[in-house]
Amino acid sequence: MSRSSFSRIVCGLLAFCALIALLPSSRVPRAAQNRISPENEGKEFRAAPSPQRLARGRYIVRNIAHCFRCHGEADFQNNLGQPKPGTEGAGYIVKDESFEGEPFPDGLVHPNITPDKETGAGTWSDAQFERAIRHGIGHDGRALSDFMPYAFFRSMTDEDVASVIVCLRSLPPVHNPLPKTKLPFPLKVDFHPEMEPPFPANASEQVKQGWYLVRLAQCNDCHTPADEKSNAKTDMMFGGGFRFTGPWGDIVSPNITSDPSGISHYDAAMFIKTMRTGRASGGVRDLNPFMPFSDYRNMTDEDLKAIFAYLQTVKPVRHQVDNSEPPVYCPLCRQKHGFGDKN
Ligand code: HEC
Ligand code: HEC
Repeated sequence: MSRSSFSRIVCGLLAFCALIALLPSSRVPRAAQNRISPENEGKEFRAAPSPQRLARGRYIVRNIAHCFRCHGEADFQNNLGQPKPGTEGAGYIVKDESFEGEPFPDGLVHPNITPDKETGAGTWSDAQFERAIRHGIGHDGRALSDFMPYAFFRSMTDEDVASVIVCLRSLPPVHNPLPKTKLPFPLKVDFHPEMEPPFPANASEQVKQGWYLVRLAQCNDCHTPADEKSNAKTDMMFGGGFRFTGPWGDIVSPNITSDPSGISHYDAAMFIKTMRTGRASGGVRDLNPFMPFSDYRNMTDEDLKAIFAYLQTVKPVRHQVDNSEPPVYCPLCRQKHGFGDKN
């Protein structure tokens, strides 16, 4: 399970626990942990700059994949989770948060990916960037934790990764020294194939495009509940029920499948309105800014329509989650949320 969603420790510890549960260190040979996989050896990825790539890269980084919510200091109080000015790409340490009372001692380091030579990515090659983004291997060869959503970015086309790299290289360099990530357990790159949403047979071009965007935007990372062992309940993918607590408040992701308990009342126009305004069902109430609508709102109509078209093809999940109702226990996702008692 990735739950990279913003990498808050909330989701984080869950992922960590899942990793610990799944990967006892004895089964992961130490030597295998920090090496580049053979298929990537000898291939040198290049990302030559061009104005088209810069524009496309900015669009992916800022509006679809919301890289700077994590690699920057997100401001939930005043700016809907957008990074504070000057922190875009500069990295950030998330500290003092815990999940179910379990502290995370050193905080979680979100690296500085601006072109600063000393404290950022100024000396990294295109290939190093590409390996981090699509293969989960850091510039120094370490296995990245899955707080970095590389499992979702693995579907990114060569042209799109190149564009992302061009965008990162265009950032103003920020001098921001951060400590090395210290994780209390060994890591192994895990592509979480179980989190890859199904691709419908005979998908139209629009649906294919929607699938691709949903991957980059990591929608099912947040909109899928977890089981007792903190693994994603993939039979409820997109069915909502994951709880997030932090500076944005306390919120459970809703069901975004086309089941009557989900968003069957949406049409494409309402979906676009919801994304652009950040208001549930296109106007009912303000959505919690943990939902990255302030990034998605700048996607094109065509891309938003494609996402909606894809969502309509996913398996409907019966699961009522209404965040405007008082939270009550739900036996399906084992969280407390509005209408939990109706499940
Ligand atoms: C949900 C939070 C999150 C999002 C979104 C995210 N990242 Fe990361 N990223 C991280 C974390 C955390 C790490 C460090 C993981 C570690 O050290 O184990 C990381 C690591 C990296 C690294 C490797 C840095 C190094 O030291 O080698 C690069 C490059 C990177 N991210 C680029 C991106 C880009 C580009 C995007 C958007 C396309 C992105 N990230 C989106 C959380 C995120
Ligand atoms: C970082 C976690 C996260 C990601 C990523 C995310 N969401 Fe959400 N989303 C939420 C949460 C939490 C809410 C509930 C907010 C509320 O009710 O105030 C929400 C609400 C929504 C709603 C509003 C439903 C209603 O009540 O009317 C829709 C639609 C939605 N998300 C679709 C998406 C789509 C499509 C994507 C991907 C493009 C996505 N979300 C990505 C966390 C996320």
